[in-house]
Amino acid sequence: MRIEHLPENNAGRMQPAISREHAMELLKRYNKEEFHILHAETVEAVMRYFARTLGYAAEEEFWGLVGLLHDLDFEMYPQEHCIKVQEILEQEGVDPEIERAIVSHGYGHQVDIKPVHEMERVLYAVDELTGLIGAAVLMRPSKSTLDLTVSSVNKKFKDKKFAAGCSRDVIQHGAEMLNWELEHLMKETIKAMQEKERSDIQ
Ligand SMILES: [Fe+2]
Ligand SMILES: [Fe+2]
Repeated sequence: MRIEHLPENNAGRMQPAISREHAMELLKRYNKEEFHILHAETVEAVMRYFARTLGYAAEEEFWGLVGLLHDLDFEMYPQEHCIKVQEILEQEGVDPEIERAIVSHGYGHQVDIKPVHEMERVLYAVDELTGLIGAAVLMRPSKSTLDLTVSSVNKKFKDKKFAAGCSRDVIQHGAEMLNWELEHLMKETIKAMQEKERSDIQ
């Protein structure tokens, strides 16, 4: 790990050294399952939404790349998730700040690197939640986020048997790290996913 600590807020200072094309090529080199590519693209879009709405519009690309690459090593190295990625990103010359943010989403599980920057906290909070929302959408007749409400996501959140692989503790902990009500996190993440769905349709 090349960087120990990101300041909590350094808005406007982070510009990625890696292009989106390079990041996408990297993602597809290490991920062959469509589900994993889709998850990466969803988290990318959600990260971009939060960059814009939280006052980091100048760093939207940076936030998006963190989302796109966050699970880069999961398909091929599930036992070394958040560890192997460090080596890969360093070989590819990816920014140390992107590396740190990615690794910090495994905090408390695979690694000891705590999410500190608001970007890192958002990634931590939305990663599992996008999975829960995605699973909830598949249950709906519309198969769409566009008519999805906070209360229906909340019901699925409370039903521990539903999409049991999506950790409620991580989502809750993520909201707490951001100092947000859980419902606020849900509302904004639904909006972000709706925005992505609308732009996919066009
Ligand atoms: Fe992950
Ligand atoms: Fe993920």
